[in-house]
Amino acid sequence: MKSETDSERLARIRSTVEQHGQSHLLAHWDTLNSQQRGELLDDIEQVNFAALGHLIESHVRQEQAFALPTSIQPAPCYPAVPGIDLIGRYADAVKRGVSLIRKNKVAAFTVAGGQGTRLGFDGPKGAFPISPVRNKTLFALFAEFILGTNRRYGSDLRWYIMTSPQNDAATRAFFREQAYFGLKPERVRFFPQGVMPAFAADGRILLDQKHRIAFSPDGHGGSLLALRHSGALAEMANEGIEHVSYIQVDNPLVKLIDPLFIGLHDLTGSEMSSKMIPKADDLERVGNFVVGDGRTMVIEYSDLPDELAHARDGAGGRRFDAGSIAIHVLSRAFVERLTADEALFALPWHRAVKKVPYVDEAGIRRESQTPNAVKLEAFIFDAIPHAENPLILETTRAEEFSPVKNATGVDSEETSRRDMNRRAARWLDAAGFGVPWRADGEPDGLFEISPRLALDAAHLREVMLRPPAIQRGREHYWE
Ligand code: UD1
Repeated sequence: MKSETDSERLARIRSTVEQHGQSHLLAHWDTLNSQQRGELLDDIEQVNFAALGHLIESHVRQEQAFALPTSIQPAPCYPAVPGIDLIGRYADAVKRGVSLIRKNKVAAFTVAGGQGTRLGFDGPKGAFPISPVRNKTLFALFAEFILGTNRRYGSDLRWYIMTSPQNDAATRAFFREQAYFGLKPERVRFFPQGVMPAFAADGRILLDQKHRIAFSPDGHGGSLLALRHSGALAEMANEGIEHVSYIQVDNPLVKLIDPLFIGLHDLTGSEMSSKMIPKADDLERVGNFVVGDGRTMVIEYSDLPDELAHARDGAGGRRFDAGSIAIHVLSRAFVERLTADEALFALPWHRAVKKVPYVDEAGIRRESQTPNAVKLEAFIFDAIPHAENPLILETTRAEEFSPVKNATGVDSEETSRRDMNRRAARWLDAAGFGVPWRADGEPDGLFEISPRLALDAAHLREVMLRPPAIQRGREHYWE
């Protein structure tokens, strides 16, 4: 077949954008050089105009109110500490989890495609330094968790990292500079997620430059299709990887691979499992696990009506208390099933109004002082209602959740470093190596335990055979 000429390609694309009311995308064509023209056409060809038409009507030109289920009940959860009825089951789960890890039937998966705008850090968020003594980055801590797991269980786990087109090159370069933190490069695999254009309120796609569409990542819900498109799912199937242990990039306390959680997921035949913590307050900015019209789901903090957020149960406790910390295990078969037919697969789109730089009609790039653009994102937790036997496991905040999201205040660098320090001190105390504490309740000194050495308090007790030298007010590090 004769390949299309440049002018035929332009004519075809011009007709498509005109047909969809997006002809402004070519408004600056005459001012572009040939390379820019090529880039613009490539950008436009990435847009699925047929699918967008409907979405622009329903989600961009108007605000789609969140459809609250008619019946909303608290979601049942497995407790952090098993009662007598569950002790045996938890022990079996740990055994099963360890066995799956030993056989490399579990892969680690980190979504790191977000733009990290709230933190104001220039670079991939995983390159943010966070550990209290050695200033290790988030990526370094996750890598060391995998190294520690491999050392403990004799595994050689794969690690998948989802980037975005915006930060993919920088993320790969960072890993190369850091020599993959000691991991084998061939066990680490990066792939970029999909993108969505940003829109003006009237539905027109925004240009970031005269020859570039203003694309942004399509949300962590995009990770499911990205797993398929990148070939990662097929690779997992080839290698017999059965479960994917999903984390977000911002939480240095996360147990990237947790035998109990993985084992419970597997033993109960859950297709998608989640960890939760009791909320710090009624309006904490975390998703809420509920059962809505019979299906387990997460209702984002911004969508939970205030009267439900403040509701109390018979005993005076918070009725909707199960906060999502965005830690999941997904069965590979579940991701395969959900993404098998792309035309049928759709997580709902969530609309956010944000500040996005844009090129105006005169071809001048503008930075808006107020939110001017609609962005659409899909969320991973919207897959939960599609899962069979979804499971929720409670865990403790102090052990597992202290994300770095904001420059200051709650969920900031300061609180995250503090919580890492406290946790290390608590582990040492629990192992019988008394740590000095100050009158204000903080450890007297800085303490850091590399995950290469110990993955939790019980593990530390096993591996730290002699009492370490601890001095008040000093920095301590073990690896
Ligand atoms: C998120 C959850 C919230 C949960 C909280 C726990 C959402 C909408 N809300 O809030 O329910 O309680 O975490 O910490 O997710 N990312 C991508 N690609 C994207 C967008 C995001 O990879 O297109 C990644 C980011 O790199 C980051 C993570 O997703 O790892 C979190 O995204 P973010 O938008 O910051 O979510 P939160 O509002 O913090």
